[in-house]
Amino acid sequence: MKRAIGFIDSGVGGLTVVKEVLKQLPHEQIYYLGDTARCPYGPRDSQEVHQFTWEMTNFLVDRNIKMLVIACNTATAAALADIREKLDIPVIGVIQPGSRAALKATQNNRIGVLGTIGTVQSMAYPKALKGLNRRVEVDSLACPKFVSVVESREYKSAIAKKIVAESLLPLKSTKIDTIILGCTHYPLLKTLIENFMGSDVAVINSGEETASEVSALLDYHDLLDHDEIGANHRFFTTGSVSIFQDIAQDWLDVPDMQVEHIKLGGAS
Ligand code: DGL
Repeated sequence: MKRAIGFIDSGVGGLTVVKEVLKQLPHEQIYYLGDTARCPYGPRDSQEVHQFTWEMTNFLVDRNIKMLVIACNTATAAALADIREKLDIPVIGVIQPGSRAALKATQNNRIGVLGTIGTVQSMAYPKALKGLNRRVEVDSLACPKFVSVVESREYKSAIAKKIVAESLLPLKSTKIDTIILGCTHYPLLKTLIENFMGSDVAVINSGEETASEVSALLDYHDLLDHDEIGANHRFFTTGSVSIFQDIAQDWLDVPDMQVEHIKLGGAS
């Protein structure tokens, strides 16, 4: 019986990680849960994010997933260590892979991190980056307007371009040569971010490196799926099915996508 890889995020952001995983591991089955009704997680207290992340985790664990990807930086910062310790399946987040990818890309050891308020306040990226390379210098910037631009399907609009330019202005005067998209929603704004920062700055989407880690971990635990048949992906949202489906179909190449509405905790 095929077992799925579970992905959780506060909304549609984690789909950017799913996209990379499906590219590298097309035979895998995906179960995805976006807690859209309670998005954004970024401005919330880390204890609340920790609780919501456990609620999402338990929902997917009850559906017999073989591995969990916390495809949300805010949730990774708040709950990865605890969830990893308590579950008996492999669990990964997106902060360590994003940091590794940025260290590979930087030439001058000056790295910018864009994230939610929660991720920036947690200092999870500076800790992860300096844990791997003590000489690296990190400029973090919270971009609280980006998530709602994505969730409201405005990510290709002129408003999005303006918000990106206004938000990233403080980074223009720094010497960073690499930017980590430290929120899984932000890859949907990647072109706008690249255009604003210019070609001297590498923009890192942690999804690709996370997908390589998923692949390596599944291989290590002998959990890889080699059989193409029966990969019935399932997508769950606590919010609007139609908005979720629109964004997911724009972003992923999954035919006959089924999106189901579910309730978690106090959400309706
Ligand atoms: N996609 C999420 C992240 O990577 C969180 C966005 C939010 O809910 O604020 O941090």
